[in-house]
Amino acid sequence: MQVNLKKLAAEKAVEYIEDGMIVGLGTGSTAYWAIKKIGEKVKEGFKIKAVASSRESEDIAKESGISIIPFSEIESIDITIDGADEVDSEHNLIKGGGGALLREKILAYNSKKFVVVIDESKLVGTLGRFPLPVEITPFAHDFTLKHLNEAGCVATFRKKDSKDYITDNGNLIADCKFNQITNPAQINAQLYAIPGVVETGLFLNTMVDSIIAGYANQTIAVL
Ligand code: 5RP
Repeated sequence: MQVNLKKLAAEKAVEYIEDGMIVGLGTGSTAYWAIKKIGEKVKEGFKIKAVASSRESEDIAKESGISIIPFSEIESIDITIDGADEVDSEHNLIKGGGGALLREKILAYNSKKFVVVIDESKLVGTLGRFPLPVEITPFAHDFTLKHLNEAGCVATFRKKDSKDYITDNGNLIADCKFNQITNPAQINAQLYAIPGVVETGLFLNTMVDSIIAGYANQTIAVL
């Protein structure tokens, strides 16, 4: 039987959650397994409250019996569990493959502990093979795309069913193919400086507390 490495890593991360915590829910096929496991624990009597990084995750959480609370009711998040598209050797991340990078970064930034769950295929030496998602305003989006391209990547608008992909925040995503991002902090600052850029999918290692990786030999490593 083939073991689901995403599930393995995600369920390990759920062990970090304690009764009574405020939990941030990530987005994507790995975070999905964490949400399902949290749902099981809630059914067993665990009392946690959650905030979600996307409408999709909010729906999965509600279906799983997890209470979603408004941000106005909390001061911070105890722990957020989320996936990643790439993790480099210094634990910088590319995120946003699922289009939720802005809300994901807000959750990560406001969490006491940010735990990243991946299968081993996400581990890379240097970021950049996965196109970096950048959320941009629809207003004057062609100008913004032009400046993204000038930053050393090939940037294209993400499409869904032949139409522009629209985020939960009503924005567009530009997927920026760099091939290699050797200095994530510098690229991040450079992209932020472009008016029209709302958020980048670069999550610098200063934001990350733990990375839990599932390996093909069915082991888990906490990095
Ligand atoms: C969504 C994300 C996801 O965490 C990332 O795309 C990884 O997804 P998956 O767990 O499905 O491989 O950033 O915006």
